[in-house]
Amino acid sequence: MSQQSQHWVATAGQSLRGTLEIPGDKSVSHRSVMLAALADGVSTVDGFLEGEDTRATAAIFARLGVRIETPSPSRRIVHGVGVDGLKPADGPLDCGNAGTGMRLLAGLLAAQPFDSVLVGDESLSKRPMRRVTGPLAQMGAKIDTQDDGTPPLRIHGGQALAGIDYTLPVASAQVKSAVLLAGLYAQGETAVTEPHPTRDYTERMLSAFGVEIEFSPGHARLRGGQRLRATDIAVPADFSSAAFFLVAGSIVPGSELRLRAVGLNPRRTGLLQALRLMGADIREENPATHGGEPVADLVVRHAPLRGIEVPEALVPDMIDEFPALFVAAACAEGPTLVRGAAELRVKESDRLAAMATGLRTLGLRIDETPDGATIHPGALGGGTIESHGDHRIAMAFAVAAQRATGQVRVEDVANVATSFPGFDTLARGCGFGLLS
Ligand code: S3P
Repeated sequence: MSQQSQHWVATAGQSLRGTLEIPGDKSVSHRSVMLAALADGVSTVDGFLEGEDTRATAAIFARLGVRIETPSPSRRIVHGVGVDGLKPADGPLDCGNAGTGMRLLAGLLAAQPFDSVLVGDESLSKRPMRRVTGPLAQMGAKIDTQDDGTPPLRIHGGQALAGIDYTLPVASAQVKSAVLLAGLYAQGETAVTEPHPTRDYTERMLSAFGVEIEFSPGHARLRGGQRLRATDIAVPADFSSAAFFLVAGSIVPGSELRLRAVGLNPRRTGLLQALRLMGADIREENPATHGGEPVADLVVRHAPLRGIEVPEALVPDMIDEFPALFVAAACAEGPTLVRGAAELRVKESDRLAAMATGLRTLGLRIDETPDGATIHPGALGGGTIESHGDHRIAMAFAVAAQRATGQVRVEDVANVATSFPGFDTLARGCGFGLLS
């Protein structure tokens, strides 16, 4: 794993070439450790993301009394303690930068017989938590937040939870998952309905661990009081990390990249559809199933892109990919319109503002709206970009720099290690101009 430095100086490099192994999926890695910890028996996780977010989750379970071995990088052996076997930790549990870690743990820990406190880094400490504490309170949980609904989360254990039938106001896999995990411990049935289907890894993985759960796009239902049976998990490569190379390969002339065995869960691949609408040349080869998930090699070749109106229905399926999409749009012919994406304002940073400000710094016109933006493409110059400590903003501007005429200095890139350790090494290896 390469050490990420505090800033990058990125410039246009060469045509991008090579075959890349993208690290494991962040969403699946978090859930694999959580569910393996709650299972009866020993589970093995292969392809675990060695990122700071997912390691923070593993460290939390170690503090809750779960033995987790790391026999080699990206592999974990988790000695499950059973649904009733977690032990209180001796102090606050640090989720780092990870919204997924904190929100899912809120559901799980609300149901334990002991108290817990969840804390996070500067970015996570500003993120909204009422979206999870609200429905959990309806189930009988007692969780205190700051007055404005942000962390730390002080969870008062020992509450008897009751199942609910919850309709989510926003499409959020994290909220859905928190409610389902609490539902495992609740009296009766817990059901969730989403305004638009979101990633269903919690549902699929609960089922792989032997839990009876009914689910279909937009709905899930389970009965409390079930136990989990240990199983082995194979984590696919993270589409959200691959996304930066799909855009880079599309916008840098002469490029051809093969990204090996990338996870193609349909709830994750909205960017693939958007890029294809823009005229991208991305082929899927060697399709296979990896740990129950569809995967394929993605082969991307440079192609001229045209601006599009991003279909609003695609937004939840590409919710983490907008920083990359903005860069593709910046290099297209004609404007690109994004709407219905207000959730981007409460991610690791306000991603609409961070992308708009950064692209303006490089010389573009961006019209920002409360729930989206219009990106007017043009020649990219140089400048200094604030990533706001957001991993995906930092990587997006490393990609944008590959088409810039000047030097792009990207500040505050250490958090790239939360989701994509080794991004800089991989990027340089295939031709990026990227100095640390
Ligand atoms: C995630 C869900 C999404 C996504 C995040 C990971 C998950 O968040 O943005 O990176 O693993 O469940 P929301 O649930 O807030 O949409």
